[in-house]
Amino acid sequence: MKVLVTGGAGYIGSHAVLELLNIGHDVVVIDNLCNSSLESLKRVELLAKKTIAFYQVDICDGDKISDVLAKHPDISATMHFAALKAVGESTQIPLKYYQNNVHGTVTLLEALQKAKIANFVFSSSATVYGEDAPAPYIETLKTGVPSSAYGKSKLMIEQVLSDLVKSDSSFKVVCLRYFNPIGAHESGRIGEDPNGIPNNLMPFVAQVAVGKRDKLFIFGNDYPTNDGTCERDYLHVVDLAHGHVKALEWLDKQSGGICEAFNLGTGNPLSVLEMVNKFSQVTGVNIPYEYAPKREGDLAAFWANADKAKIELNWTANKSLEDMMRDTWYWQLNNPDGYTNKK
Ligand code: NAD
Ligand code: WQD
Repeated sequence: MKVLVTGGAGYIGSHAVLELLNIGHDVVVIDNLCNSSLESLKRVELLAKKTIAFYQVDICDGDKISDVLAKHPDISATMHFAALKAVGESTQIPLKYYQNNVHGTVTLLEALQKAKIANFVFSSSATVYGEDAPAPYIETLKTGVPSSAYGKSKLMIEQVLSDLVKSDSSFKVVCLRYFNPIGAHESGRIGEDPNGIPNNLMPFVAQVAVGKRDKLFIFGNDYPTNDGTCERDYLHVVDLAHGHVKALEWLDKQSGGICEAFNLGTGNPLSVLEMVNKFSQVTGVNIPYEYAPKREGDLAAFWANADKAKIELNWTANKSLEDMMRDTWYWQLNNPDGYTNKK
């Protein structure tokens, strides 16, 4: 199968591209490199010993997407990772997020519809359950109101996709609602490479461990959880990439006109303190930390009910917390400055 991967140079996309190549699929990547580097794909090519067709194209540019699709008439499915994803930034510049994520996705879908490429896997997020949903989140819950423009952009796209399949029954769509992806490929060659100060927990911890930052600030210690710090459902990025392949296989067996959501998580909530302690235990590196005020918009605890993905996609998160910590550290240790020759 030949798969179009948007945002394939990014953190999760690059792991998915490697997974696809490793099981014998061909891949065409489009990415505007606004938050990534071609270096990730060069390394994926070396790991897979295969080549990737890459186009520096913006998903808001429908004509250029159509040009790429015309060059590869045998593409039969899309994995759509391309998006802006910084939650805090999205509150400051919401229009940019709606333009890039929502308008970009609509533009991409128009080009795919013209080219009759019907199978579509979308990178959604647990954030679509909103602020008031009871954990564990299960797909039968109604979606809620996400607190950020980023989260709302993901919910809007799910709604766009739902309307699309109702109007065009050739389309088959899976929305994968990720919980908290962390870790890196075990080779230490590809991983998460945040710009500037990391927003997310584990990239920050890894930068403290490697000496790039003095200490971790833990946002809040009086949440109604066992140890007072927030609890999340962390899953290994390679398990997540594998979930995408399972979703593609599932789509292949479905008839048209469906839009189905699946949670991808482990089902195990872990607190910030438990994560920090586990990282130190696995790597032998102490992480100095200090408690800081709560971060606006953070929820006390949420995790997945991942039964639907297990039953229908035949997917479960197989990697352990040790794997997540070891691979996070191995990537950071080997690439203290990420993909140094960016762009
Ligand atoms: P990332 O920033 O590493 O990857 C996104 C990629 O999309 C980047 O390579 C970027 O250059 C590209 N991109 C952005 N806008 C584009 C555009 N207009 N045209 C073409 N390319 C564009 O992020 P990631 O962590 O790999 O996330 C991938 C997807 O998963 C995103 O849709 C994100 O919202 C979603 N997601 C991520 C997380 C997470 O914690 N990382 C959780 C839930 C959902
Ligand atoms: C995890 C925990 C923080 C950094 C975000 C998005 C979500 C999804 C995944 C895309 C929280 C705490 C963090 C730090 C800390 N992305 N923390 N100090 O917020 O659960 O989810 O990424 O869809 O939409 O919101 O993940 O890694 O930012 O935070 O104490 O320096 O770590 O308060 O409790 P989050 P995170």
